[in-house]
Amino acid sequence: MNKRVRIYQPGPATAMVYEDLPALATPAAGEVRLRHEAIGVNFVDTMFRSGAFRAQLPLDMGVEAAGVIEQVGPGVTGFTVGDRVAYFFAFGAYADERLIEAKHLIKLPRHISSDTAAATFTKGLTAWMMLYGAHQLHPGEVVLVHGAAGGVGSIVARWAKALGATVIATVGSASKAATVKDYGIEHVLDANDPELAKRVLALTEGRGVDVVYELIGKQTFAQSLAALSAGGDLIHVGNASGAPHVDQSLIAERRLRYVQPSTGQYVGERAALERASADLFRAIEQGIFGQEAPVVYPLEEAARAHQDLADRKILGAAILRPHQPTPSDIAKSVVRRNTDEVQGGGNFALFDQLFADDFVDHTPQPNCTPDKAGARALYQKLREAFPDFHAVIHWQTADGDRVTTYKTYHGTHQGDFLGVAATGRKIHFDTVDVMRVRNGRIAEHWGVAHLYSLMQQLGAIAQ
Ligand SMILES: NC(=O)c1ccc[n+]([C@@H]2O[C@H](COP(=O)([O-])OP(=O)(O)OC[C@H]3O[C@@H](n4cnc5c(N)ncnc54)[C@H](OP(=O)(O)O)[C@@H]3O)[C@@H](O)[C@H]2O)c1
Repeated sequence: MNKRVRIYQPGPATAMVYEDLPALATPAAGEVRLRHEAIGVNFVDTMFRSGAFRAQLPLDMGVEAAGVIEQVGPGVTGFTVGDRVAYFFAFGAYADERLIEAKHLIKLPRHISSDTAAATFTKGLTAWMMLYGAHQLHPGEVVLVHGAAGGVGSIVARWAKALGATVIATVGSASKAATVKDYGIEHVLDANDPELAKRVLALTEGRGVDVVYELIGKQTFAQSLAALSAGGDLIHVGNASGAPHVDQSLIAERRLRYVQPSTGQYVGERAALERASADLFRAIEQGIFGQEAPVVYPLEEAARAHQDLADRKILGAAILRPHQPTPSDIAKSVVRRNTDEVQGGGNFALFDQLFADDFVDHTPQPNCTPDKAGARALYQKLREAFPDFHAVIHWQTADGDRVTTYKTYHGTHQGDFLGVAATGRKIHFDTVDVMRVRNGRIAEHWGVAHLYSLMQQLGAIAQ
């Protein structure tokens, strides 16, 4: 059974409920069904969960994930089954699978894994907004990045450096300082130091920095104002320590440009989202953000991830791992949908396992002998004849929408394959999938007619 994480009332991390996800409907116009492979954990999730940000209840938690498209609704263009995609702001990400409007999706390049995407997409787009939008960073500028060991800060600091800035970073502990130094950031200061602004001024020969990227808020805000050069930019993105008092008169007096941007303001339009994503993916490919893996929690331990985030235990980014479907889960989901259109999962290795191990071991049917060897032999034949074709063959009894079994039985591969199974009951052929697989991903899908034609070519059934 697929799962999701919801809140019915705002509260502490334990307010999150890990529960069964009701079967999803067929995607409506403009929607796709997406199976998540990795789910991003963002600070903003904790704010919706706690009630600091209001949302309609019950709330399906999470705003970001990466995964594989399993089914495409009418009118969707540019996306197909098997595409690997990510999205950065759509509630309902803390779930094994979901329906989502295709307009939120960005295709992932081959070099970006789902883990990297879920760990980096929202935070990276926020960093892009900070470096290319709210403040257009120029080489040679001096920047102060707070929270530089956190999800957003660790990306901004490294990206700013790669863009030619001198980066002064702050962190809250010695171990985080060591990590940020390992990123190649030369100046790493203690965010708790009451002399922080003085130290920044000392590093800049008294001039102050050109821009502050404020992610911490209350704890660092006064120091941020003091550390800026006259006329500098204060880009106030987050309040991990709470909301600060904003001294507008001091801001005016020092001619600072004070901006409180949101990522959505800068990547809300499709063209901007695509441009920002392309810049981010290129930066990832160039290795600007290193190779460290995100911290991974099972989806059911979302509460632990939130607690660790609150306790400032996480270095860089955290992701949630959805339930990994077993072969029989996939068979069930393929059969359940009972459609003749595109269907199936994106992870082809699981389909292979389905044939190897799990093809026939479900509800026994009276008077029928499961033919596991026969199923495998048919599969092998098809694979030998059509190396990049894979067939997944299921069927169900004709009990209307209620799926009771999916098996292969003696004799059903051959002449009577397209007829009546050994059970004597009619078969719904639309539970047969034929797919072309490239690079381990489903590239094309056909219904039974195509399989029938392949089998004719093979001589497995009469022309
Ligand atoms: N405006 C937007 O569109 C937008 C988009 C994304 C994120 N944000 C905001 O940006 C901020 C950072 O996000 P993130 O994903 O980087 O979060 P994160 O991974 O939790 O990092 C935030 C850092 O802040 C410090 N911190 C956390 N709690 C603190 C506390 N109570 N007191 C003092 N310092 C604390 C921690 O660093 P140390 O332990 O090293 O001090 C932590 O590494 C959040 O407020 C988030 O809501 C805004």
